[in-house]
Amino acid sequence: MPKVTIDGIEIEVPNGTTILEAARMIGGDIVPPTMCYYSKLKTSGGYCRTCLVRVSKGSEKDPRPMPKPVASCRTSVMDGMEVQNLTSPEILEARAGVVEMLLLNHPLDCPVCDQAGECHLQDLAYEHGKAETRYEFPRREFEKRDIGDKIQLHMTRCILCYRCVKTADQVTDGRVHGVCNRGEVAEISTYIENAIDNDFSGNVIDVCPVGALTDKTFRFNSRVWFTKPVDAHRDCPTCSGKVRLWYKGDEVARVTARKDKWGEVEEWICNSCRFDHKKTSDWVIEGPSKIDRHSVISANHYQSLKALKSTIDRQRGALPHGEKTALGDGALNPNNEEK
Ligand code: SF4
Ligand code: FES
Repeated sequence: MPKVTIDGIEIEVPNGTTILEAARMIGGDIVPPTMCYYSKLKTSGGYCRTCLVRVSKGSEKDPRPMPKPVASCRTSVMDGMEVQNLTSPEILEARAGVVEMLLLNHPLDCPVCDQAGECHLQDLAYEHGKAETRYEFPRREFEKRDIGDKIQLHMTRCILCYRCVKTADQVTDGRVHGVCNRGEVAEISTYIENAIDNDFSGNVIDVCPVGALTDKTFRFNSRVWFTKPVDAHRDCPTCSGKVRLWYKGDEVARVTARKDKWGEVEEWICNSCRFDHKKTSDWVIEGPSKIDRHSVISANHYQSLKALKSTIDRQRGALPHGEKTALGDGALNPNNEEK
């Protein structure tokens, strides 16, 4: 069992664990953000670079630091490895750069986007982004493509994380969509329309970290923070039938899979549960959903990056005398500490 230290916190993990998974085992704000990694999808990760960390000590055997930031979702821990995330100014700077790059072509249409309030890019931009842009060129534009009556594709919002491609590949049968072209003109599929005609295709909505794939049956129906999430189940012949109902008043406005605290679905659900069962009488209600993440749905407002008290306390001890954390004095402000 290798031991790894992340932002001053040591943990023992099974062989083959990635730095990201080790950080998730520790939990809290030291966990690097992810836009493309998805624990339920094989071979996900490695595309977006938001999970970059600094490996300041490679291992007990070879203590040399890694020469440049590494993607924590794709790098396995070694015994004695030391990793910096929040405690590295270099990483916070690099992440700000990644956010800036992701936003180069992403339209700032949050006020009209259905994903607002549960968009991981929005969270990332609030936590690590800058208020201004240096980009002076027109943003990418695409021909509008209709992919059916249930799923809305907004290619301009896509950040090419490949999650929907892997979902189509691994959850539906007979994948016929993928990422075509490269660089500035890359886009998902010419054949996504075909992948959509499948019992489990609606899951691409849930895995999309931004508003590129949204639920047409919920479109412009409500801001997500005006809806109330409730866990419910039904006896479904196709999937587990365990879902989250989003109530607007007494009406079920939409049905999604349940997501864990990392914003990843717990179990894939079928299209029939998602699109065809929108009456309370279709479901056995279990109770209000727990929204774990730093979500606008539960918090009702966004907060800037916070450092866990425990992280800071340990880091204070771990750093040489007089040296400050990457977060500076503001992070040590009691108002910023975890309640
Ligand atoms: S549509 Fe969404 S899930 Fe698919 S690649 Fe683009 S951002 Fe990722
Ligand atoms: S989450 Fe690791 S590269 Fe995207």
